[in-house]
Amino acid sequence: MNLDAKVNKKDLNWAELGFRYHKTDFRFSAVHSNGKWNDGELISDEIIAVHEGAPAIHYAQQCFEGLKAQTAADGRILLFRPDLNSERLNLAASRLLMPEVPRAMFLNAVAQTVRANYAWVPPYGSGASLYIRPMLIGIGENLGLKPAQQFEFRIFVSPVGPYYKEAGLAVISLAVSEMDRAAPNGTGCFKVGANYAGGLLATRKAQELGANEALYLDSAQHRYIDEAGSANIVIAMKDGGFVTPSSKAILPSITRRSIMEIAAQQLHLQTTERPIDLRAEVADFSEMAACGTAAVLSPVGKIWFDDQWHTIFADGQSVGPIMQEIYDLLVGIQKGELTDQYGWLHEVNI
Ligand code: PLP
Ligand code: COI
Repeated sequence: MNLDAKVNKKDLNWAELGFRYHKTDFRFSAVHSNGKWNDGELISDEIIAVHEGAPAIHYAQQCFEGLKAQTAADGRILLFRPDLNSERLNLAASRLLMPEVPRAMFLNAVAQTVRANYAWVPPYGSGASLYIRPMLIGIGENLGLKPAQQFEFRIFVSPVGPYYKEAGLAVISLAVSEMDRAAPNGTGCFKVGANYAGGLLATRKAQELGANEALYLDSAQHRYIDEAGSANIVIAMKDGGFVTPSSKAILPSITRRSIMEIAAQQLHLQTTERPIDLRAEVADFSEMAACGTAAVLSPVGKIWFDDQWHTIFADGQSVGPIMQEIYDLLVGIQKGELTDQYGWLHEVNI
């Protein structure tokens, strides 16, 4: 069946989409009150009206997720490891004293929202995808520092293009921030909005230096690589190893976890998660990349620290062979072009 014939796709210039909010037709909303979730429903209003005393607004009692739906060549709509987004949302919910969203409810709500917005799912080959943003917010009034009494679980979607400007594999640059993103025992490993508000200024300062994003070092010693503002870091070493920072303060990226498996099993690299001392080891980096749902795999050409640029690969603008190969394998699986030997894809029945 030609799915495109079933519902006419929106008339968008898919190839020109940036990573911006685009209002689609439906969003999912469920409310938790008196200790239980209601069934939730698809609604059309994109505005959330919440109490002025809502803890989400005052004390950042909120968390969110990010995943993508892509159209395969045969028209199937594919999600990448959505079960892990459900798991991670619930870890953040528990940390912030919010009710968990049952896994089945999460997966069903994601599928419903994507299905209802089928016309907005970018077609195969367009280079764009449908970004899915689940969120959990404390909406019931509370002035004191206590958990909310009511919560909303909402999912909206938006067709998006690449996070960094160019299409495909964009080489980016990072500037080490003097500011900290997260404390060792803080909330850095949870996807909570509070981590991101604190990062806005660091991102701006990095951009003023001509970098795409801030790179954070560990907050205790400012020595070991933590992560970028919206992505984890992976590094191919000159000795043939493939490493990624071990840190309690970084978001456990689903993309990174997948890349580490691809690097070990398909590129046969020796993969290690360990502390990476930036200044002591940068000369041993062969290739570096930022990775995440929005960032996909973005090779890092150069890094700014100690008042100068440090070039990582070639001229700082080319993609290295290892990152190119990993990108092709990862994106090939995500788009359904390569066999999903890991069982990572989840098809949305249209
Ligand atoms: N680190 C941060 C701070 C992020 O915001 C993201 C994006 O979700 C990631 C890493 C990458 O995580 P994932 O691959 O699960 O999208
Ligand atoms: C994602 O990659 O899904 C994110 O949440 C990053 C966000 C800051 C755009």
